[in-house]
Amino acid sequence: MCGIVGFAGARRASDIIYNGLKQLEYRGYDSAGIATLSDGKISALKRRGRVSVLESEIEKLGGVTGIGHTRWATHGKPSDENAHPHVFGKFAIVHNGIIENYSDLKEKYFGGVKFNSDTDSEIIVRLLDKFYGGDLVGALKKISLILKGSYAVAVICADFEGIAVLKRNNPAIIGYGDGENFAASDAPALAGLCSEISVLDDGDIALITKDGVNIFDENLQGVVRERLVNLATPASLDLGGCPHYMLKEIREVPASVERTRLAYLTVESKVKEVLRGVKRVIITGCGTAYNSGLVAKRYIESFVKIPAETEIAGEFRYKNPVITPETAVIAISQSGETADTVEAAKLAVSCGAKVVAVTNAPYSQLTRIADVVVPVGAGSEICVAATKSYTGQIAALYLIAGTLAGIDASEKLLKIPKLCKETLEHIDIDTLADMCARSGGVYFLGRDIDYAVALEGSLKLKEISYVPSEGYPAGELKHGTLALIDIKTVAVVIITDERLAGKSENAVEQVLSRKGKVAVISNVAGIEKRLEGRAEVIKIPACDEFLSPLLSAIAVQLLAYKTALLLDRDPDKPRNLAKSVTVE
Ligand code: G6P
Repeated sequence: MCGIVGFAGARRASDIIYNGLKQLEYRGYDSAGIATLSDGKISALKRRGRVSVLESEIEKLGGVTGIGHTRWATHGKPSDENAHPHVFGKFAIVHNGIIENYSDLKEKYFGGVKFNSDTDSEIIVRLLDKFYGGDLVGALKKISLILKGSYAVAVICADFEGIAVLKRNNPAIIGYGDGENFAASDAPALAGLCSEISVLDDGDIALITKDGVNIFDENLQGVVRERLVNLATPASLDLGGCPHYMLKEIREVPASVERTRLAYLTVESKVKEVLRGVKRVIITGCGTAYNSGLVAKRYIESFVKIPAETEIAGEFRYKNPVITPETAVIAISQSGETADTVEAAKLAVSCGAKVVAVTNAPYSQLTRIADVVVPVGAGSEICVAATKSYTGQIAALYLIAGTLAGIDASEKLLKIPKLCKETLEHIDIDTLADMCARSGGVYFLGRDIDYAVALEGSLKLKEISYVPSEGYPAGELKHGTLALIDIKTVAVVIITDERLAGKSENAVEQVLSRKGKVAVISNVAGIEKRLEGRAEVIKIPACDEFLSPLLSAIAVQLLAYKTALLLDRDPDKPRNLAKSVTVE
């Protein structure tokens, strides 16, 4: 959520920052802004809307040093006034995070003074102005001692031809170029601009000029942060001939599964070592990552026969959970930066549990906390709605369960990319998408592992098409939800478990007899015949019952995508959402 970019070099800063912000829009797109420094004077431009609203005006901003922001609104509605940068006195700042004590600080230091915005972030620039006496690092240190919450802040100051960055609990990276240096929330902003980056630690203050970078730690000691290869490249941001990232990324599901399988070979022995003697597993994450954890619970309980629970990270961290050193906590996060998931992992560490991170982001906060990192080989995922990272996570979790159980899961997974490709080639979801687009509500139903995918199908559909949707266990339908079924509703029933097919087909009959419309996503033999003329049947290839989520997921992802298009929604940038939620 919220993306920040900073640049100090010899080229026009506003162009570089604008392009960087375009790459960070998945972090939020409520408003955008840029401030630059030219001859000791700060100029700023900020507007409500997506980054492109700045395009026609950026040439007004001269200067070779600057900062920029794309916003996901938390405090203060999306508006020009609440857009960043916030400018005051000799300073302009951009902020990602939440300053939790901003009201107290405002009262304490500024009494009844009216601020220019309703944001929590404006307090930062006001405090900088108040504490600055010619020493920028000193002023940043002072404010860091009184700010509570999370922040990655980039600053320009009229007295300093460079940018400063302050970081706590929100990601900030430095990029090293040739005669130019950068700051950003995330590597994609710097794709093609620099091949080396450093990740800042909490409490770090960095001063960045065109000639170099100086980093000071919490105690204001000069430090060098490890230089890492910037894995984001312009190629990874290409649409690959697709109209949207979402479609491109669904098409990359087979590669995501295969790369995850191959990458696992490099960490398998470490996973084995870390999980030795574990008696219980807690799996945690948010959103789609949580949903992949629901699938993992089934893997661990079925293969390993030890208790496994899946917990929403934002709940888990506050519920005083029972975690012993014999517990393993698997924290799943595409970005590796989701605040609730990172905090849940920290809690697990503090209780002496073993922590396994399953993530797409090799340099993320989560990777620094975990005992072992299991990479998801999804590659860069730009669409806000997770697709190939979900299937990559499921593949990684299947492999972890295999290691715990002493089963060669890799061998079984080997066949899946081909089946994913077949699914992508042959699936016809258009009729169902049309049914969903016209419906008053869509219920995704399933039993056991199919129920786990039903929840993800429902999340995908509502987040990008805004069609009201819920996921339910097929057996629960008759205990209340059936009251909602009428001629305007659609039930999408996922049936891939031969063992439970008959039971799930009961739910189909129950919906049909209440005049609801039904579609079935299934690989069960003979189902088309049984439902002929009564339900839309979407066939997916037959496969191992535990791996069917990798195929049914493609169906529900494509369904959400096509429904969103029919309703004229932007599938890559759904309203009100952001991909990486780094605040509570
Ligand atoms: C946000 C995104 C979801 C994502 C969730 C967890 O809510 O919109 O698509 O599933 O965060 O993100 P993570 O990076 O931790 O997997």
